[in-house]
Amino acid sequence: MIRSLIRTTKTSCVQLNQRNIRYSSTKHGKVLNVNTMHPLIKNVEYAVRGALPIRAEALSAQLKKDPSKLNFDKVVFCNIGNPQQLNQKPITFFRQVASLCENPELLKAENRGLVSKLYPADAIARAELLMKNIGSIGAYTHSKGITHIRENVAKFIERRDGYPAEPENIYLTQGASEGVQKVIQLLTHNTKSGIMIPIPQYPLYSATLSLVDAAPVPYYLNEKEDWGLDPAELKRSVTEARKNGVNVCALVIINPGNPTGQCLSEENIREIIRFCHEERIVLLADEVYQTNIYQPERRPFHSLKKVLMSMGPEYSEQELFSFHSTSKGMVGECGRRGGYFECVNIDPEIMDQVYKISSISLCPNVHGQIMVDLMTNPPVEGDESYPQYRAEMDAIFQSLSRRAIKLAKCFNNLEGVTCNEAEGAMYLFPQITLPPKAIEAAKEKKMTADSFYALSMLDSTGVCVIPGSGFGQEPGTYHFRSTFLPEEHLFDGFCAGLQDFHKSFMDKYRD
Ligand SMILES: Cc1ncc(COP(=O)(O)O)c(C=O)c1O
Repeated sequence: MIRSLIRTTKTSCVQLNQRNIRYSSTKHGKVLNVNTMHPLIKNVEYAVRGALPIRAEALSAQLKKDPSKLNFDKVVFCNIGNPQQLNQKPITFFRQVASLCENPELLKAENRGLVSKLYPADAIARAELLMKNIGSIGAYTHSKGITHIRENVAKFIERRDGYPAEPENIYLTQGASEGVQKVIQLLTHNTKSGIMIPIPQYPLYSATLSLVDAAPVPYYLNEKEDWGLDPAELKRSVTEARKNGVNVCALVIINPGNPTGQCLSEENIREIIRFCHEERIVLLADEVYQTNIYQPERRPFHSLKKVLMSMGPEYSEQELFSFHSTSKGMVGECGRRGGYFECVNIDPEIMDQVYKISSISLCPNVHGQIMVDLMTNPPVEGDESYPQYRAEMDAIFQSLSRRAIKLAKCFNNLEGVTCNEAEGAMYLFPQITLPPKAIEAAKEKKMTADSFYALSMLDSTGVCVIPGSGFGQEPGTYHFRSTFLPEEHLFDGFCAGLQDFHKSFMDKYRD
């Protein structure tokens, strides 16, 4: 962002000359308009907040004004992994601590009697400890994030992986997105800087690459092999990009996958590390779904850091940035914007640069930092809040597992639809074979066929999914992505509505 902004100021004079853009005065219209704005920003696409969700918002507003005009009584936002928007309950302990931190009056000795009737002792103790280390929530913190919280994140990583982690190598961020954007900015120079991204991918990557005017280097996931990652495909992708003069500097792994829901095996991760080591490519591991693991025996989560560390001294120079978030898992606190990234084997001079760019935005928001502390350092067995914490986490997890299976089954029962089961994450990405007449009808409307299908679904059922073209897909195939986050008690009705819509859509366009 920073570089593109600097570039904006640098290039705007050039654009004036080259494209003959006139910045008109207020007498003749707006100075800032779509012709004068930065073209890179204009060109960015971000499907999960794109045309379909905008239409869904409009339908939602219409339902409030005049529900009689629509066939449904509610819009279901399956376009984005935003669990609490679909009524997932926040974890009680987390909110108790957050609320105590928010109002330090509650922690004063004179209020203790009243407060201890409302809050368990361990929530009060945690809030006190945090406030001792934070001071005031209203103050800027260290640009890397509060040291005490980074120490807790380092301990969490050590417990998870069995290898040391260094608080100084951890940056707290406003969600994983901010970290990803910073690192991509740091890695790319110009249109010939390439970052390998999976296809299908989460559009944060393509959008950020557009913003910094760098090249996405696609590698395709194999739908027939449960969206597995084939090292031969990585080789093909890098070779082709280099042949085209692209300097491939990094590779993004989304594990578990979004939108594809696969969870990589340890051996597959090793192959990826070997590939990056051999090709001198920095690894970016997006691991925001690391606790959304639905087939733990067959496909447990392995962090890239752990696998890298297990590969010994030969790989001690392999650079890695790994990202995590409070938005996903069973925590689902998307709105608090908490996250972190860990820098592994990064050159000390680059670490100084990471610190410098983090300082420009002063610090990540403190509410998000507190949530990172809670996510990485939750109640443990023996703590007063542990039984409730465990029960809430387990209930959400088990319900998500059941909904994942139910939705995949629902999709697989639809004519012309095939859907891999989710090994992880919060999404299914079914493939649809659309009748030629539907493809024609889409063309007439100047839409991709998958957008046409998704829009028809939204208009008929109120369910908002995202067309596969927003994530990338093999040419000639059509998909859509749906979360499996609608509430479980509504799920049968939700699936029945989708089945009815699909049948009438197929009947309408059948040859
Ligand atoms: C793969 C992936 N990475 C990153 C993010 C961004 O998450 P955050 O809310 O932490 O910015 C998302 C959000 O859906 C995601 O799916």
